[in-house]
Amino acid sequence: MTAQSALVIDTVKKTYDGRRFALNGVSFEVHQGEFVSLLGPSGCGKTTLLRCIAGLETVSGGTISIGGRQASSAKSSLQPHERNVGMVFQSYALWPHMTVFRNVEYPLLFIERDGAKREKKVSELLSMLGLGGFASAHPFELSGGQQQRVALARALIGDPAIVLFDEPLSNLDAALRDSVKLLIRSLAREMNFTSLYVTHDRSEALVMSDRVVLMNEGDIVQIAEPLTMFEAPAGKFAGKFLGEANFFRGRILSPPSDGLVRLRTAEGLELVGTTKPGTASQNDAAVDVMIRFGHATPAKHVGPGEEGLNRFQMRVKDVIFGGELLQFVGDIVSDDAAAQPIAPFTFISTQPVAKVGDTLEIAVPYARTLVFEEVP
Ligand SMILES: Nc1ncnc2c1ncn2[C@@H]1O[C@H](COP(=O)(O)OP(=O)(O)OP(=O)(O)O)[C@@H](O)[C@H]1O
Ligand SMILES: [Mg+2]
Repeated sequence: MTAQSALVIDTVKKTYDGRRFALNGVSFEVHQGEFVSLLGPSGCGKTTLLRCIAGLETVSGGTISIGGRQASSAKSSLQPHERNVGMVFQSYALWPHMTVFRNVEYPLLFIERDGAKREKKVSELLSMLGLGGFASAHPFELSGGQQQRVALARALIGDPAIVLFDEPLSNLDAALRDSVKLLIRSLAREMNFTSLYVTHDRSEALVMSDRVVLMNEGDIVQIAEPLTMFEAPAGKFAGKFLGEANFFRGRILSPPSDGLVRLRTAEGLELVGTTKPGTASQNDAAVDVMIRFGHATPAKHVGPGEEGLNRFQMRVKDVIFGGELLQFVGDIVSDDAAAQPIAPFTFISTQPVAKVGDTLEIAVPYARTLVFEEVP
């Protein structure tokens, strides 16, 4: 562990019934001031891990250290209030009979005896969060977004070593979700608090985080910065979870050279793709191939003589207008007069580059044709 680690999760295991493991031994660190998201599908163990960190669950193995102090092991566990963490839940969990001011002040009562100092601190935080005018209001008089800001203020007031968020936006409507998302992000930067943010929504994780911890079935699949995880996923699961893409199954035709392999998909399409260093892909190895919707373009839009491109014919069956982007859905077709459909394919563009019924050549850089060892 380094001096800047606000949180160290070391081989943490958790079983509720002694047989199935909700956490299989996960490890990662969150640095001081960092914003880390825990991302993964329902049931993968995100809330379990967050509750272990908060001290609301015990761990079955491994250790958790918060602010340099061991907080959890299978043998001993600090109480939640001894851990110096702030929590923001999906349900705001505000006290309905207390004013906004009292709700936010509450955790300070145990830390700061001087009432004037408490008042100053609460007032300052409320105005930072745009709640200055609501100090004497009750939660029921506030909108959902305002209530969530009160919950955030209450989580932050005690200067916690880390703020834990569990899907805090899921009760808000889409427009509000976007604004609260950006608010949390800008506050985290401005106030430099450390955050661990649980979500199953990839766009929240990508927009807000310095780093993303991707989980599946109690294991960590990949830890990376958002852009890296989007563009260089560790495997098919990460690729699929982080964004939309075309997938093919295939077999290696020639072993990797300079990180590139030649392969043939199950439909008979020959492609050149990029593998991760260290991927053992001998001839005939089964692989998954991924091409993101945004990484394919009509060949007429790439410069003449540009190399390192897979090229194939596509027939467009549907054009879907999605606001900023148009989605072109169709089939890759055989490169002969028959133009037989071979496999479904989709790409996106900001421009109306094709119409329904068009057959056009598509280009995809080798570097954007990602090849993963097939997980059985
Ligand atoms: N109190 C509990 N008792 C027994 N099993 C539990 C308990 N809480 C969670 N589990 C199990 O542990 C696993 C992980 O659950 P967890 O709530 O951590 O998932 P999650 O990633 O937060 O999912 P979601 O996105 O749906 O909130 C699941 O298989 C779940 O059924
Ligand atoms: Mg959960």
